Amino acid sequence: MNSKEFSRRRDQLMRMVGTGGIAILPAAPVRTRSRDVAYRFRQDSDFYYLTGFAEPDAVIVLAPGRDNGEYLLFCRDRDPEKELWDGKRAGPDGAIQDYAADDAFPIDDIDDILPGIMESCSRVYYTMGLYADFDARIADWLNSLRGREARGVHTPREFVALDHLLHDMRLYKSRDEISAMRRSARIAVQAHIEVMRLMRPGLYEYEIEAEFMREFRRNAAWMSYSPIVGGGVNACTLHYVENNQELKDGDLVLIDAGCELDYYASDITRTIPVNGRFSPEQRAVYEIVLEAQLAAIEMTRKGNHWNEPHDAAVRVITRGLKKIGLLDGTLARLIKDEAYREYFMHRTGHWIGMDVHDVGDYKVGDEWRMLEPGMITTVEPGIYIPDSRKVPARWRGIGIRIEDDVVVTSNGPDVLSKGLVKDPDEIESLMQRA
Ligand code: GLY
Ligand code: MN
Ligand code: MN
Repeated sequence: MNSKEFSRRRDQLMRMVGTGGIAILPAAPVRTRSRDVAYRFRQDSDFYYLTGFAEPDAVIVLAPGRDNGEYLLFCRDRDPEKELWDGKRAGPDGAIQDYAADDAFPIDDIDDILPGIMESCSRVYYTMGLYADFDARIADWLNSLRGREARGVHTPREFVALDHLLHDMRLYKSRDEISAMRRSARIAVQAHIEVMRLMRPGLYEYEIEAEFMREFRRNAAWMSYSPIVGGGVNACTLHYVENNQELKDGDLVLIDAGCELDYYASDITRTIPVNGRFSPEQRAVYEIVLEAQLAAIEMTRKGNHWNEPHDAAVRVITRGLKKIGLLDGTLARLIKDEAYREYFMHRTGHWIGMDVHDVGDYKVGDEWRMLEPGMITTVEPGIYIPDSRKVPARWRGIGIRIEDDVVVTSNGPDVLSKGLVKDPDEIESLMQRA
């Protein structure tokens, strides 16, 4: 993302915050994996969205109209000894030169500097409840001001939920963001194609996971979530991530894997036959899910409500389950009673962007939000038939989901992951050619 985009975002946010307001955002904390080993650091999405700054131990302050600089960055000081272990730091000078901060300070000085800046503001824009340690520091700074009110010190009177403003901005993706999302989707699509080519009975689920990791890393990307590689009935466990079973001849395998490239996520699912051929039952269920997904994508249009793609998928899935004998009753009644939820228990999609399950309200007041150009959602209906005596044996243990990432545009849905086959005949022919 080029630096103009970051400054445009800060300007937009500062216009909403207005003079007299101050926005404060901490970087993500470093999290421990075990003992003294940390998870690989990943910057907080809101923080990165406004700065492009990927170091921990940092705080940004936006104070519109402030004479001595509106955009302040507190960050780790340069330290040759520490940099020898952990790598280069920008330091306050780098924050100004490379990240366009108006002013920058060592993070260790924040207690001395920030309360003084807060004092001259009447409204604090902050996302409460995200990082408990930082919440406590905000409270400490406020209390230090309150404690001096008798001496004429001013305390901000108003607290505003910053996430509400910022997440509404993030919901509308710019042209550059859509390009970034397209690149992320392309890498994941390529990885899924590779996996379709090499799929065969006898492989283990983790070997498929490994292929994704390999494809992602060789394209400078990471997994945007733990891949789900569920063979057979494992596909019916929605968050299956153990990925430790053998893939069996005659089973399907559900593969939900996407990557994160330059802080933008993809999230793609395909369900394919391990041996390259769908059985008649697998195909029958697959065709229902595919029809539901295409119907939902078709409804992912500006002016429609957020729920319309889901309603379309529910309709097709309920009709299909009725047709194959898993549901019994009138279509209208089955939909009204949500009978389909026994087999399709999740929503049809979610916003996607810097976070896989991205930010942005789904409702405005009591109404589902209207879809507008620049919003990006996944479309991912599924049918999961439990391995249970309650269902006829031929359907047992079939779990299918098909998921693509779709941009709402002025000209209809733009499927970012459209390079990946999903028609069952095309899947079979891709798998045969391997
Ligand atoms: N991979 C997570 C999801 O599909 O929502
Ligand atoms: Mn997914
Ligand atoms: Mn998803």
